Amino acid sequence: MDRIRILDKDFEVSLKNETIQEKVKALAERINHDYEGKNPIMICILNGAFMFAADLVRYLSFQPEIVFARFASYEGTETTGKVTEVMGVTTSLAGRDVIVVEDIVDTGITMYNVLPLLRNKGASSIKIACLLQKPEKLQVDLTVDYCALEIPNDFIVGYGLDYDGFGRNYKDIYTLAK
Ligand code: IMP
Ligand code: MG
Repeated sequence: MDRIRILDKDFEVSLKNETIQEKVKALAERINHDYEGKNPIMICILNGAFMFAADLVRYLSFQPEIVFARFASYEGTETTGKVTEVMGVTTSLAGRDVIVVEDIVDTGITMYNVLPLLRNKGASSIKIACLLQKPEKLQVDLTVDYCALEIPNDFIVGYGLDYDGFGRNYKDIYTLAK
């Protein structure tokens, strides 16, 4: 399937699953190297990161604890935005190494606001692992420690990412058709 329609929009395939798997595996190898012999907590950020997290953890050679969290962002008048915890982490993060697993860092505002919430829970280290980043759109001072793939400034769906709730199920990634 090279072209799909979701609601009112057309999308064209831009990253096939084989490529995604190669990139996720390469990322896992970097994480394996850095966390050898450790047992960090990986926090999969719902909803978008579920598919990436599921593949990423299967390439790991250490034993992470895997938990899930969900945050909601509010786009108010403030430029930096605000996020609230909709489904928080119930496992204690005190003294733990944390890896936040996110689908995509776009403006970076979500991660920028999530990090202090996690830091307040006493983690000893926090790193971000994302599948995708749109470097041109980054608006905040955010260090993305692990990123599988950098992409241009286009809207994408598939492999966990949605357009208005749909499109998450596709194994490939699709870009909004121009
Ligand atoms: P940020 O706060 O601007 O970095 O945006 C992060 C969130 O926006 C991601 O976790 C996604 O849920 C969503 N997002 C950003 N870009 C896209 C896209 O191209 N397709 C689908 N969702 C996106
Ligand atoms: Mg997301």
